[in-house]
Amino acid sequence: MRILAIESSCDETAAAVIEDGRKMLSSVVDTQVETHALYGGVVPEIASRRHMEAVVRVTEQALADAGMDKHDVDAVAATCAPGLIGALLVGANFGKSLAFALGKPFIPVHHIRGHIAATYLAYPDLKPPFLTLIASGGHSEIVMVRDYTDFDILGGTRDDAAGEAFDKVARVLGVGYPGGPKIDKLAQGGDPTRYKLPDSHIKDAPLDFSFSGLKTAVINLAHNAEQKGEEIDRNDLAASFCAAVVRTLVPRLEQTVRETHVRRVVCAGGVAANSFLRAALADMAKRTHTQLYLPPLHLCGDNAAMIGSQAYFEYLAGNTGTTLQNAFATAEIGENICQKR
Ligand code: KG4
Ligand code: ZN
Repeated sequence: MRILAIESSCDETAAAVIEDGRKMLSSVVDTQVETHALYGGVVPEIASRRHMEAVVRVTEQALADAGMDKHDVDAVAATCAPGLIGALLVGANFGKSLAFALGKPFIPVHHIRGHIAATYLAYPDLKPPFLTLIASGGHSEIVMVRDYTDFDILGGTRDDAAGEAFDKVARVLGVGYPGGPKIDKLAQGGDPTRYKLPDSHIKDAPLDFSFSGLKTAVINLAHNAEQKGEEIDRNDLAASFCAAVVRTLVPRLEQTVRETHVRRVVCAGGVAANSFLRAALADMAKRTHTQLYLPPLHLCGDNAAMIGSQAYFEYLAGNTGTTLQNAFATAEIGENICQKR
């Protein structure tokens, strides 16, 4: 089954053709990063308008790269939640309309389920159940993937997502948007013990965590230094921040691995590209004798290939959309967005 998938939940307009959930026939990502960098972050209305302009071109390219005509696709999928609502509506409505015009099924896909599915493209033998650490710009959760469309959230952030914290700290350090890759680069060779940054502990919820305290600590550190006329070592602060994020996420994941006795662990989302997190997860996998599955870097950020992969499993589970299908700014990973109103 060949699925044409569309992704437009944030600042990437993407289209891909995926065969049977595992084989990538094409994947095109058109990023708006340079536009939003001018404003220091994503401007939702500009994002929606750029998706409008890009979506047909990107789709035509994905079909051409796969050597296909639009009539050859068996279904059309699009990200319908969660994300910036104006941005989502562009891709979701385009996908639904295209499916309608072609007389093919429309498959709505949850963006975070898609991030997890990116791993299926890289590891053809990976099957649920497995444990996942989700770390993206909008989500940070520890999720048990019981089956392709069956998820259980075991813990997560009480406030900011990991990626949000990276982007905020990048702004404070004046390195611009998007912050994650830039902080990662700055931190290479920095001293992670130089600045003392706080850990978060949530009473009676050991698998939950918070990034707002960490973010505030970095902001205060930078402001205090500025007031005293002292120079901050940006490499050391970036390294200390990366270490603090790793300290927040990895021990909780490790605790879950030990408690649930899972043998397979996945990390997904934009922050899964972070070199310090990847190294710490590899160490954890050795300690716990688990198999670690990390998507390759090009599949960590937003793309439509991951949406096309998850769409296949949604289709097998009977989760196709009707012509009434809508898009939603928020939706938990366990929700069936086909039935959401
Ligand atoms: O998953 P994603 O592409 O979009 C969402 O679904 O949110 O994640 C984007 C986030 C951004 O906050 C970006 O700064 C972060 O992922 N990110 C990174 C790295 N690359 C991207 N964070 C840390 N280290 C990286 N290398
Ligand atoms: Zn994403």
